[in-house]
Amino acid sequence: MSVTKQVIESLLEAARWAASPDNMQPWRFRWDGAALRLMFAGHGDNEGAFGIDSPATLLTFGGVIENVTRMAEAIGCQLYDAVTFPTDDDKNCVFRCRIEATAPGAPPAGWRSHPLFGRHTNRLPYSDRALPEQTAADMAALAQGEARCRLLVDPASIQRWAGLVRDGSSLRFRNRLAHIALDASLRMTEAEAARGDGLDVATFFLPPGAKSMLSYTRSWPRMAMLNRVGLYKLFASIEADLVRKGPALLLVTGGAGRQGALDAGQLLLRAWTRLNELGLAVQPYYVVPDQVFRLADGTVPEESRAEAQALERASAAALPPGTTLYMVLRVGYPNKPAVRSRRLPLEQVAAIAAAPSEPAAG
Ligand SMILES: Cc1cc2nc3c(=O)[nH]c(=O)nc-3n(C[C@H](O)[C@H](O)[C@H](O)COP(=O)(O)O)c2cc1C
Repeated sequence: MSVTKQVIESLLEAARWAASPDNMQPWRFRWDGAALRLMFAGHGDNEGAFGIDSPATLLTFGGVIENVTRMAEAIGCQLYDAVTFPTDDDKNCVFRCRIEATAPGAPPAGWRSHPLFGRHTNRLPYSDRALPEQTAADMAALAQGEARCRLLVDPASIQRWAGLVRDGSSLRFRNRLAHIALDASLRMTEAEAARGDGLDVATFFLPPGAKSMLSYTRSWPRMAMLNRVGLYKLFASIEADLVRKGPALLLVTGGAGRQGALDAGQLLLRAWTRLNELGLAVQPYYVVPDQVFRLADGTVPEESRAEAQALERASAAALPPGTTLYMVLRVGYPNKPAVRSRRLPLEQVAAIAAAPSEPAAG
């Protein structure tokens, strides 16, 4: 049975509420009446942005695929002929599928209250209340391809990973490309945040004075100059401080390569949605895997390479052999609800044609 435009809209609403690095939403969606395409949009001339084949982009698209799949299940339609990176299609097409409805008409009422719309990032401090013991088993039971989740609650492991986050962060604040990407995403005022993409500073945990410091150091030459007196060390210890306080961390690991990263992205959003559903707050930290992936793609500056290699060895030593680390997430009960990030409007990111049998909307 062919699907209606409302069904496609509900699937794409789910897609656009996925997570993305710095909330840059590097996606475009296209429904031509027969196939749905999830496409990479790039970031124009932003030199620091992640490319289509970077693990960060693949994790993001894994998350989009997860949300579309879960919504399809919830509203009773089937995705079939699914293919990733189809060679007979647009070079920016990451995922293509056909869709069949199992019931006619609009999606069932209530689709907007699916838990995937409740998933969000909370960057504030968390309570030190311990998690229920069952949470670790719930997380360990989740799997997608080779991707797995592991919840850490013991203080020694948390301190070990907090140290790795500090080291990754210290490398990140000395990386020109990473700094340029952050600068391009920052939304410092309400008017800037209202555009619907990027990192709204209202979602940050900023102690007094930190917002002016952030504004001042947006320019890379200024950051590089202050790094000579060790500013990156201060920023890195601030970033790692909340990780150190726990009470839990979730590691998402998986297989290597494109499929490994897409699977990890799917699992990342599944676990994150579940944790939020359980009333837990979550903040991802990408710095450790990011520095390791940057070593492989050559975007770690020469003077930092030895340090990045030491980080790679230390993180590998803390993981099961042969696994790739995709994400470290801080998990705990929230003290305060987070300010929610926004999204670009659906019409800006999606082109939706009516199904051939469907009358045009009046
Ligand atoms: C690959 C990837 C890396 C991310 N890295 C970080 C990070 O290091 N720190 C952070 O606070 N959030 C990180 N995020 C979360 C995004 O900033 C967040 O998903 C986005 O701003 C949208 O907000 P939401 O999760 O509340 O919907 C990351 C997300 C993805 C998909």
